[in-house]
Amino acid sequence: MTRGRLQGKTAVVTGGGNGIGRACCQRFADEGARVVVADLLADNGAETVELVTKDSGEALFFELDAAEESANVALMASAIETFGSIDVVVTAAGISHADYRSGDRSGNEALVDRAIEAMADPPKAFLDLTLEAWQRVLDVNLTGTMLAVHAAAAHMVSAGNGGSIITVASVAAKNPDAGPLPYAVSKAGVWMFTKSAARMLGPAGIRVNALGPGFIQTNMTDVLTEIPGVREMFTTTLPLRRLGQPSEIADAALFLAGDESSYVTGQILHPDGGYFTG
Ligand SMILES: NC(=O)c1ccc[n+]([C@@H]2O[C@H](COP(=O)([O-])OP(=O)(O)OC[C@H]3O[C@@H](n4cnc5c(N)ncnc54)[C@H](O)[C@@H]3O)[C@@H](O)[C@H]2O)c1
Repeated sequence: MTRGRLQGKTAVVTGGGNGIGRACCQRFADEGARVVVADLLADNGAETVELVTKDSGEALFFELDAAEESANVALMASAIETFGSIDVVVTAAGISHADYRSGDRSGNEALVDRAIEAMADPPKAFLDLTLEAWQRVLDVNLTGTMLAVHAAAAHMVSAGNGGSIITVASVAAKNPDAGPLPYAVSKAGVWMFTKSAARMLGPAGIRVNALGPGFIQTNMTDVLTEIPGVREMFTTTLPLRRLGQPSEIADAALFLAGDESSYVTGQILHPDGGYFTG
């Protein structure tokens, strides 16, 4: 069903193959946007394209490693070549830890064990951190965000039509308890990057805002409720008493993408079920 709030616009969504990114692709296409779905996982990206086009939307898949500069430059060039403009960007490509692969549940048991161990002995967990584990998370989540925004902004500034860029941070940008150390640092970096980019791109009419979701039901969080204490957080402490759905983040992204937020820039919006009330 097309409602038209993004009619005639082109949206590029990194991490569009799953979860929050996929929901944004679908929601934006529902509103008339042409969508470029960029992801590391070609099969999942192709599925998103299929979901969009079966509802008579227009979509293109681009295989991207978000951490690669040349891939981000080629992604944005391909969006321009196919659809003629870049109006909206969502940087949803992200990983929770260095060996995260969306949809691969083979490491879940080890992940739960690691989380339990870390809660029992935080200094040991800190000392166990390796450069490799730190670097890949920073490369994908933080540098990947910068590279996509930088490559898109080059086209947006020269086109002179403004635009809306939406980065995906997390509640972990502000609360270190909400994710592993490299993840929380990467998201805090995304939040600061967003504010700085908003200041620098504002004069070109480009708004830059962040989403700071709480816990959303995606491949990334499918093990969460197996970690002691976390299930209780959702069922007894979190004001809304449940995880969020990707479509609820896509609704927040739509607000930031469209004209209803025309005077909003440099903000972080937390669709988090009330996480930050405590
Ligand atoms: N799920 C949550 O609770 C939650 C909360 C806050 C923030 N986030 C953030 O939302 C974003 C989307 O996560 P999600 O929960 O939808 O997870 P997801 O695993 O469902 O989706 C992430 C997508 O990013 C892609 N991706 C990963 N590394 C990539 C790379 N190097 N290059 C290109 N694509 C890559 C994956 O293949 C996948 O399709 C992430 O940045 C995540 O940190 C998620």
